Amino acid sequence: MSKFYIETFGCQMNAHDSEKVVGTMLAKGYTQVESPDDADFVLYNTCSIRDKAEQKVYHRLDTFKNGSGKGKRFGVLGCVAQQEGEAIFEKAPHVNLVVGSASYSKLPELLVQLENGAQRVTGLSLDADEAFETPLTRRDNPHKAYITIIEGCDKNCTYCVVPFTRGRERSRQSSSVMDEARQLVDLGYTEIMLLGQNVNSYRDPSSEGWDFATLLARIAEIPGLRRLRFTTSHPRDFVREIVDAISENPVICNFVHLPVQSGSNYVLERMDRLYTRERYMECISWMKASPRDIALSTDIIVGFPGETDRDFEQTMRLLGEVEYSSIFSFKYSPRPNTGALALEDHVPEEVKRQRLLALQEHQRQIQIRLNENLVGRLEEVFVDGFNQSTGQWIGKTSQFRTLNFTVPANTVPVSGSLAGQYRTVRVTRSGPNSLAGEMLLSA
Ligand code: 5AD
Ligand code: SF4
Repeated sequence: MSKFYIETFGCQMNAHDSEKVVGTMLAKGYTQVESPDDADFVLYNTCSIRDKAEQKVYHRLDTFKNGSGKGKRFGVLGCVAQQEGEAIFEKAPHVNLVVGSASYSKLPELLVQLENGAQRVTGLSLDADEAFETPLTRRDNPHKAYITIIEGCDKNCTYCVVPFTRGRERSRQSSSVMDEARQLVDLGYTEIMLLGQNVNSYRDPSSEGWDFATLLARIAEIPGLRRLRFTTSHPRDFVREIVDAISENPVICNFVHLPVQSGSNYVLERMDRLYTRERYMECISWMKASPRDIALSTDIIVGFPGETDRDFEQTMRLLGEVEYSSIFSFKYSPRPNTGALALEDHVPEEVKRQRLLALQEHQRQIQIRLNENLVGRLEEVFVDGFNQSTGQWIGKTSQFRTLNFTVPANTVPVSGSLAGQYRTVRVTRSGPNSLAGEMLLSA
């Protein structure tokens, strides 16, 4: 039992949890392999936000049902594990380990139980009173790092499983966050992304009592840090001080993901989102007034129970007013235990499908227009890597736009890899989803 394989589904919180799980496994003497075929232990870190995400893990497990998984052990981690618990053993009897996202600190002892011959072990407590941190985290990217600042969620959005899968909100001590951020910068990381289900409700449990805006401003002051990002925000807890922090320190990227879900007050109320369209637009107006040219993105759910054509129209209009640089849009998916299951007036699948298409087309036109306006601009990019098939380098702007670029021909060739470096690029072309340009040599 020495080789493990892990596949991760879902959000950045899950991606970061997997980095912690990998670090824990490596420290216990396991080695990581790239294919489940080569593994003795196959782990899936799962997402249950929508039904489609949840079904993925069962599809994966099914492929090992008829004997092909013989000799292997299987673990289901994360949100599906927490939501389904021991029922996973019924659906997929070859699973040996089920661990929810609030119980990763128990992973080492659960592994010992398995090593000692246990066939089925679980870690499903939601009582964790602290965010799970481990010095063993094995980060995937040598230049960009995630830091969890708050876990869980105390909101009760009626469509959402997260309060059931990730438990109550708990913030990390600011000193521990600051120490980790400084260590990462010392190790050469230049971009940090602060993570939480709702980073805006961060509240330092120590006597310092920092709120999120203070934490953001303090981390941004760490010498050597070039870019600081955060996700995800909740409009109810989003305050003007966060925008002030962005305006005052260019290390904090001029990009904010602020999920609106719907442009209709009626739907927002049925979702129990705790804000109105007007309050949301007030947050947007603070950002539009910032000298930093803050780009915005959002999440939208179409076809929530009771959503009429007129409600949907209001969401369409909101997209036009805000002019997001990108959106994530979803058809409402009924989830276990959630309040919305009790709501009437479910929207037919075909209507949901049409609304999603219309929304995405509307947004595509907005993005085409916004990106066209960037042609000619000089942008600083953080280089992610090289795309062999297009011969372009891939970078991200501070506004989180993808900018693919070439190095001018007939000039001194760029030696070595640009990955992890910052370069200035002139934008020469634009599309709905990305920009293209040419690197300035002097930069
Ligand atoms: N159905 C569809 N979309 C959902 N989301 C959360 N729960 C559901 C659901 N039941 C979306 C929200 C959230 C994003 C992470 O996923 O838009 O912001
Ligand atoms: Fe999916 Fe939410 Fe769990 Fe992230 S926290 S993996 S989005 S269910």
